[in-house]
Amino acid sequence: MAPMTLHPDSIAVHAGREDLASLGVHALPLDLSSTNPLPDLELGGMSYEVLATGGHPFEGGSNVYARLWNPTVARFEEALAHLEHAEEAVAFSSGMAAITAVLLGVSHEAGRRHVVAVRPLYGGTDHLLASGLLGLDTTFCSPDGVAAALRDDTALVVLETPANPTLELVDLRAVVAAAGDVPVLVDNTFATPVLQQPLELGAAMSLHSATKYLGGHGDVVGGVVACDARLAAALRRTRAITGAIMHPLAAYLLHRGLATLPVRVRAQQRSAQTLAEWLLTRPEVARVHFPGLPGCDPQGLVGTQQAGPGAMIAIELAGGFEAAAALTSAVELFTHAVSLGSVDSLIQHPAALTHRPVASEAKPSDALVRLSIGLEDPQDLIADLDRALTATSRTNAPAMSNAG
Ligand SMILES: Cc1ncc(COP(=O)(O)O)c(C=O)c1O
Repeated sequence: MAPMTLHPDSIAVHAGREDLASLGVHALPLDLSSTNPLPDLELGGMSYEVLATGGHPFEGGSNVYARLWNPTVARFEEALAHLEHAEEAVAFSSGMAAITAVLLGVSHEAGRRHVVAVRPLYGGTDHLLASGLLGLDTTFCSPDGVAAALRDDTALVVLETPANPTLELVDLRAVVAAAGDVPVLVDNTFATPVLQQPLELGAAMSLHSATKYLGGHGDVVGGVVACDARLAAALRRTRAITGAIMHPLAAYLLHRGLATLPVRVRAQQRSAQTLAEWLLTRPEVARVHFPGLPGCDPQGLVGTQQAGPGAMIAIELAGGFEAAAALTSAVELFTHAVSLGSVDSLIQHPAALTHRPVASEAKPSDALVRLSIGLEDPQDLIADLDRALTATSRTNAPAMSNAG
């Protein structure tokens, strides 16, 4: 365990690595075993029983099988738990696998089938909840509608802050208070544990699409949930039964990525502030959504709930959908691609892509594009957007139907 007296940047570098010197190694070990030798049938069977029901391996036992337990994944989980100020963390094959496991595990444990979901949410999460695929009944609401949406059979309240894609901030403490005894799941993907630790504010679980900032290099898909030991056991049990564990190579890359997470997030955030202020000056841009701009954080949550505005920006183009579509094609340094949080900058149109399955009443504006600011020099990013915005405002972009 990393001494808790360390500052967060030091924890990011050292957590989950405390035994490396005693193992005689410096880099993280990577264990790719799909199966593990059993000491004998009795201990093997006991190990299986413990791990398949969500427990930890025991001295003299076996890890049995990689769908039940993997030491490389466990190291990453330990490190992430430290950063989130959580007892434990449980890692999954994707962010959506993590959300699915929370919904299944928590509703099953509580024997309740109702979920309250605060919109806006990532399109995939919204889709999963609205689809009814998991046999759960979901009430969507605004942050101040949580208390009214609760029922006797509510198992969970789900929210994102900052929310994807509009960067709205939700007052976590207020939602936790409104939820009462019902556990609150916070999708912390946009803020990262560098800027926000939801468990400190009363949330029961903090979830990440690790695919984004935690990995940071656009080469891993994963998900992780930080929570207390009881919920972690329920999630591991669900993970073992459904087969949703993270691959060890993903865990290795994510753990390595954690060491640079604080410096990446702070540098990306600085550039995002510069870009957001510049975008405000552009006539082609009707509205800039960025929590670091005046008017975008009416509840004053930056500095109290989250330590900074983050590095995601959304803009609404004065020229509507045609201008938004043209901008995504005209940029050169930004990559036109979904996902976010990478070292390189990305641009995408949520209504047509990431939020495509969302019901029309909750879908983001057609005129909105989302920018994920990377580690390039902000002046180069400004030059790219300057050129692209100027070009698209000059061109009469061909009329395109709204694919969303
Ligand atoms: C906020 C948020 N949560 C969850 C997810 C789902 O994660 P994954 O794509 O890793 O399954 C995403 C993906 O974009 C996301 O942006």
